[in-house]
Amino acid sequence: MEKTTKILVDEHKNILKVVDVIEHECDLVESGKKLDKDFFIKAIYFIRNYADKFHHAKEEDILFKELLKDSVQERLHCNPIEQMLHEHEKGRNFVKLTETGVKKGNSKKVIEDARNYINLIRDHIYKEDNILYPMSDEALDKKTQKDILDRFSKADKLKDKDKKKCLLIVNEFKKR
Ligand SMILES: [Fe+2]
Ligand SMILES: [Fe+2]
Repeated sequence: MEKTTKILVDEHKNILKVVDVIEHECDLVESGKKLDKDFFIKAIYFIRNYADKFHHAKEEDILFKELLKDSVQERLHCNPIEQMLHEHEKGRNFVKLTETGVKKGNSKKVIEDARNYINLIRDHIYKEDNILYPMSDEALDKKTQKDILDRFSKADKLKDKDKKKCLLIVNEFKKR
């Protein structure tokens, strides 16, 4: 695996960890636990800042843009990027709906929308790890890989504070 996609796969692992904890909390709420608003607010903060602003930004602003260049497109046997972008949008919408449910204290809505998000993001990550990233490793040359890596680290530096906060949430959630 190239370093660029390895970074993204590792970020997926953090997202999946948090998503597992959210799913567990949904199960608890479903079996009668009171809606823990603080938990869901924290989970939504993580998704927005880590999954979206941190991880999806690397895909949308950097990697996908490279893959969409004509010279690269010629070498791809299919183009899943439109679909990936559509799924990012869908995910943002589910998160918004979950947030609305949390604000209203509507447990049923929170569970439903959070589960929609969980299913979507698991499926999305599976497709990226197994289809899109291997494709990217094959299609992009060494110079482009190096260039992407530089841009990744520049993008990370800008969001360093949020990243640290999000990684604390991952660690906290792991202990739940
Ligand atoms: Fe993605
Ligand atoms: Fe991703």
